[in-house]
Amino acid sequence: MAEGLQQLILDTLHADSTIPDTRSLVIPGQSEPAASQDAQITILGALNSLLSRNMVKFETHETLSHVLTPEGSQIAVGGSHEARVWAALPAKGEGAPVTPVQLRKQVGDETAKVGQGRAFKNGWIGKEGDGLVKLLSTIKDLTQLDLLEIQSSGSLKSGEKDLADLRKRKLIAQRKGQWFTVQKGSDFSTSTAKPETDLTVDMLTSGAWKTSTFKKYNFEAEGAPTEGGSLHPLLKVREEIRNNFLEMGFAEMPTASFVESSFWCFDALFVPQQHPARDLQDTFYVSDPPHSLHPEPEYYKRVSTVHEHGGFGSTGYRAPWSHEETTKLLLRTHTTASSAHMLYKLAAKCRGEDLEDDRPVAGKEGPKDDGFRPAKLFSIDRVFRNETTDATHLAEFHQVEGVVADRGLTLADLIGFMKVFFNKMGIEQVRFKPAYNPYTEPSLEIFAFHPMLDRWVEVGNSGMFRPEMLEPMGFPKDVRVHGWGLSLERPTMIRYGINNIRTLVGHKTSIEGIENSPAPML
Ligand code: PHE
Repeated sequence: MAEGLQQLILDTLHADSTIPDTRSLVIPGQSEPAASQDAQITILGALNSLLSRNMVKFETHETLSHVLTPEGSQIAVGGSHEARVWAALPAKGEGAPVTPVQLRKQVGDETAKVGQGRAFKNGWIGKEGDGLVKLLSTIKDLTQLDLLEIQSSGSLKSGEKDLADLRKRKLIAQRKGQWFTVQKGSDFSTSTAKPETDLTVDMLTSGAWKTSTFKKYNFEAEGAPTEGGSLHPLLKVREEIRNNFLEMGFAEMPTASFVESSFWCFDALFVPQQHPARDLQDTFYVSDPPHSLHPEPEYYKRVSTVHEHGGFGSTGYRAPWSHEETTKLLLRTHTTASSAHMLYKLAAKCRGEDLEDDRPVAGKEGPKDDGFRPAKLFSIDRVFRNETTDATHLAEFHQVEGVVADRGLTLADLIGFMKVFFNKMGIEQVRFKPAYNPYTEPSLEIFAFHPMLDRWVEVGNSGMFRPEMLEPMGFPKDVRVHGWGLSLERPTMIRYGINNIRTLVGHKTSIEGIENSPAPML
């Protein structure tokens, strides 16, 4: 049908060169001209298809046409109320007059009520005794005729006054409509064959390309939007911080082990076995498998001894040591557990273990190489804490951690490093406050001035690792290790203006927000 209609439009244009009013077209398969709005919508479809191939151009004209309401449609089929009243009555003198009660029974309350008055007014019916009779033997039901005319043409030849009357009676309603005038387009032809969009090998070999018509390039067409993945803000800021560390000569630590033993997460760091951080309320313990593997026995012995009895100049905690406690498995509460592994490894040569690292010791011409090599290490990975979640806390977050090991480092080195590090993140003003960590002494909390919040906010924690931690690992006495840690979430939230951590990760995250968030400034 669509093809037939397009062909009809092209043939009409070919014959008359213009179609002044599409309402005069007779759509193939129909007997009447396309006066109705539905027909014009069908024609518009055909016109648009031809327009896209530049075969026609057309102008749109707006009209106000009329459609029948449900009640109007009923009347168009079965006649007006007054006609139905008239039809229900006997002719005068030809039978018993019908009483109003009988009439209501016959034609229904609504028809009887509305129809009686109009039939009287029209002079169609009259009273006889208590009843009603026909006065005319034939009538012309103008209402029905008008509605039928409106149904097929959308309007009335008799004009606006009758239309207004029918509108008032709620038998018809206005509807906006369209019709079109059509002209030949720049690529007019009477053939509706679709132009080719591709030049194929077949066309080339058969020579069909010579006679084919090809679709024109549309240089105005907008390309399809490119859909791509986008990085989560946390990943963007992680990349920025990772680059800062790499620029400062740091190497990334392996941090793949989310599950750690209490030994590496706490004991190796000289965190007392009775420390509240080790409580079930603060740490997620793993029940299966029930225990970790046993750490290297000599190191284990040195760690347990320094806890229980002291050593390396320390009095220790002088509390009973529980082996059971050290073997508990948990989700690591800080990435300092990974740092402990790496520092233990770094001290291997100092312990006399044979590792293939024969780099000369920088600036040291001492008689004996004690095996120590300076190191700058960092990590950025996930940690877990058994916390009640709120706007700024999640049970799972990321820690950024830096560790520097060298001989004779001082607190000033740590402070200097952190200033450079935080400056690189765009934090210009930093302040330090004495703090406490079981594994560092001294310890410093780091505060940054937040210009938007107009106050100092805590951004990290740091310190010089204690000899009770370093010396059991085998580090020479003059080796100092300092470190600092911060969450990845806090700088990310500040950077992207997010004030609830639960909109940064989890099901409340706005995908659109993530797609639109710019890359951080480096
Ligand atoms: N582990 C500390 C924390 O979780 C951060 C830290 C790392 C402190 C290294 C000192 C040294 O907050």
